[in-house]
Amino acid sequence: MINLVGILLMLLININITLIIEKSNNYKQSERERKTAKIFLHGVMANLQGINLMLALVSLILLPYVLRFLKRAFWDPIRITKSMEAQGIRGPPYKFLHGSTSEANKLMEKSMNTPMELSHNILPKVQPHFHSWIKLYGRNVLTWHGSTPRLVVGETELVKEILSDREGGFPKYEPPEFMKKLLGDGLVTSSGQKWVRQRKLATHAFRSESLKEMIPAIVSSVESMLQKWVKFEGKEIDLFREFCTLTPEIISRTAFGSSYIEGKRIFIKIDELTAICARNFQAIRLPFFRKLVPNQDDIEADKIERDIRESILKLIKRREERKENGDDLLGSLIKAHRENESITLDDIIDECKTFYFTGQETTSIMLSWTALILAINTDWQDKVRSEVLQLFGDRSLTSEDFASIAKLKKVIN
Ligand code: HEM
Repeated sequence: MINLVGILLMLLININITLIIEKSNNYKQSERERKTAKIFLHGVMANLQGINLMLALVSLILLPYVLRFLKRAFWDPIRITKSMEAQGIRGPPYKFLHGSTSEANKLMEKSMNTPMELSHNILPKVQPHFHSWIKLYGRNVLTWHGSTPRLVVGETELVKEILSDREGGFPKYEPPEFMKKLLGDGLVTSSGQKWVRQRKLATHAFRSESLKEMIPAIVSSVESMLQKWVKFEGKEIDLFREFCTLTPEIISRTAFGSSYIEGKRIFIKIDELTAICARNFQAIRLPFFRKLVPNQDDIEADKIERDIRESILKLIKRREERKENGDDLLGSLIKAHRENESITLDDIIDECKTFYFTGQETTSIMLSWTALILAINTDWQDKVRSEVLQLFGDRSLTSEDFASIAKLKKVIN
């Protein structure tokens, strides 16, 4: 292609040269002037030949990339679709560069703009694309994230086989670019020996004795939230918002030994980055393009990532100044970093980001959903309330109480 442009350029210049020479004849210029013009123009020709050679060289270098792109964007989808169809697995059609993401986006947009009836059947609401494809194509569906194939497995036997695989045949998938900024290479995304090391540290920080020790901090956070609710008596209250403040506070205190105020900046930034991730979850962009022409979200995400890093570094520094590690997650990570060179400062930062993110979103949604279900099923609400009042009355919950709260456990599970 580039070569072709070069040849066209040469042809055009050639025509121009002839015209100039003819013009100079018409104007009866001196022999010397014509000679100078000819030498100059032949110089231009030689230069152009050099440019053409360079363009040929560049196109030769680019050729493997172009071929690889064409293979990924055209040939692989055809080949994989055919091979899956031969095994009885079908899915939404592959669209050039977008895969099946544009169809998914359309279904998501429609779902988000329609109110949901109160029901436990949440799949059509939160993942309408999977819901509609499973209905159309069966329990195992081949989908496309751009030109990357993704197999949605719904068949129980296959799910069991995947989850019990010990050979490493089903590795974790590479998270999208923004998700990497959110989770780094922490426990959720890491694999192999690194995952084993991180898992050991997290297991130590969240062992049952430590969990028991966390209860006073959890109770105190819940009590201050309830104290705040007193002024809302008889008024409407946005429980999701309340839980979104409560859970980060608890994670801050239990995993990082800091107050919500100390961790607040990190949580706000994590929320902002989560919003960017959600906006771009189905977005398909070539990594090369992202680097070359970053959009507003790329720039913003880079800035937030830097901010989070700085805030976590400050948290680590404050902990180090206290001269005692503590036995919580941050303490275990700092201790391991001091004793073991294979745990770097970046690893600590990634793990903190991971726990800040995973610990708050999941639990605040779970609490909100439980409250909603109890609000709808008032008979269960009454049962749980009388169980709690009977067991504790006005006193606070302790770790010994867990065994006796049967009905509430049933609701949560
Ligand atoms: C209702 C609450 C929660 C639910 C439903 C939930 C759900 C899950 C699920 C399904 C996974 C597996 C994800 C995967 O392998 O792709 C997971 C992993 C994980 N969760 Fe949670 N989670 C909850 C609460 C929490 C909390 C409170 C924390 C941290 C304080 C947390 C931290 C993690 C971490 C670090 C992983 C990765 C574990 C590993 O790969 O070894 N989660 N969670």
